[in-house]
Amino acid sequence: MKRPFNQLIKCELTKVSLDLSKTLIPVNPISDISAMEKLEAGGISNTTEKRMVGHYWLRDPNLAPTAEIKRTIEDSISKIKSFASKIHSEGNFNHLLVIGIGGSALGPQFVTSALSTMNDKMGISFFDNTDPDGFERTLSKIPNLSKTLTIVISKSGGTKETRNGMLIAQEAYKRAGLDFKRHAVSVTGEGSELYNYSTEWLAQFPMWDWVGGRTSEMSAVGLLPAALQGFDIDLMLNGAREMDINTRGKENNLAGFLAQTWMALKGRAMVVLPYSDRLELISKYLQQLVMESLGKKHNRKGEVVFEGLTVYGNKGSTDQHAYVQQLRDGLNNFFAVFIRVLKSPKIDSISGVEVENGIRAADYLDGFFLGTRRALFEAERPSLTITIPEVNAYYVGALIALFERAVGFYAELIDVNAYDQPGVEAGKKAATDVLNLQGKILSSLDTPKSIGELVSITGGAADEIYYICQRLAFNGNLKEVGDRYGKR
Ligand code: PA5
Repeated sequence: MKRPFNQLIKCELTKVSLDLSKTLIPVNPISDISAMEKLEAGGISNTTEKRMVGHYWLRDPNLAPTAEIKRTIEDSISKIKSFASKIHSEGNFNHLLVIGIGGSALGPQFVTSALSTMNDKMGISFFDNTDPDGFERTLSKIPNLSKTLTIVISKSGGTKETRNGMLIAQEAYKRAGLDFKRHAVSVTGEGSELYNYSTEWLAQFPMWDWVGGRTSEMSAVGLLPAALQGFDIDLMLNGAREMDINTRGKENNLAGFLAQTWMALKGRAMVVLPYSDRLELISKYLQQLVMESLGKKHNRKGEVVFEGLTVYGNKGSTDQHAYVQQLRDGLNNFFAVFIRVLKSPKIDSISGVEVENGIRAADYLDGFFLGTRRALFEAERPSLTITIPEVNAYYVGALIALFERAVGFYAELIDVNAYDQPGVEAGKKAATDVLNLQGKILSSLDTPKSIGELVSITGGAADEIYYICQRLAFNGNLKEVGDRYGKR
């Protein structure tokens, strides 16, 4: 057994701590923070897209590199607050339908799951795909469309899944005899397709090219739904701002240690195990933040490096009855990040009741965390533990800021641009090509044709042509649609 390193890093300001005693290898503090300093000062740190990287200014506009950026952030926050209080006081809406994908959905979904209670000012539903069954299922569960405010979120304003969701929602309002424009707001970049489409809606909120999708939770992308739900957005911003204060310096820099741990354990997957139902979606949120930022083919010198950090997880103790068996006894190719919450319910509450003599549900939850941590350590599987006092808006903000900065530091260590996403763009382009292929197939089908003939006519791949035809035929509309296209 390797010797444990007793390292408990505490942030006095936020009261968040990071325990590195079970990483199985030594982890040193971060030594070079100069790149992050340049980034925060407004350097063009997203070099491929030639953009600044400004998510840290969102929670501390005074740090913005220009007065104009400071003003636009502050204006956006006050517009969000006044819009939310107007919606609450007028009482015309009691539900939200948020339409977005990736960085335009995962933050609001995580925050909703972490903070929602019976007392939320508005309920919330999401369209985060282009699955028609998903659209219909979500719509069928919306209590009253006439009292539902739709928020369409897209930084680029051209993402097809989001566009489709918006058009489906618009159709739903139309069929209910409602005017979509009186029920919709947008969050998007000025001048985008969505921006131009939404000029007559109830309101438009800005997104800026210096904020990445996956780091946009503290922009209108995350703050608008949160404020409408009645969450304390000032507290969330403050949690992030105070975590930034910790992770900006060299002393006890939690994000620096986290990034150094990732470096020391390079090649292993990160399994995120919050012992809290409310934090269940943090694994999914971090999966995007980390994997879209760090999963890169090239480093900044242009060399092929195939970098990345695989992230998965769900929650404890639930996962102990699922994949933790493999973590403990099987492939040793990961490290665990436990997230632990100190606050337990009052002992006179329903969930504070004793389940055994002197033992309550909360004792079991922490007991299972400690048990799994110990079992993994005994089997020489590394872990680290983040402890937060409670799950509230402050700590949601602090956790987001902690991981955002860790991603930034780690990107420096492995020399990749954490702020672009060429793989996502490639996927979007490939889907457009496939839809063009479908168009070519359909316009060739005025008379029946073999797959081979369609390959020669369209130049498409046989397997893709087969898949396209298979689904259209299964739904009984291949011939009908083919005839229509063929007659053009
Ligand atoms: O983080 C990112 O940049 C992406 O995941 C985007 O958020 C996602 O592709 C959606 O893009 P958009 O907000 O432009 O619709």
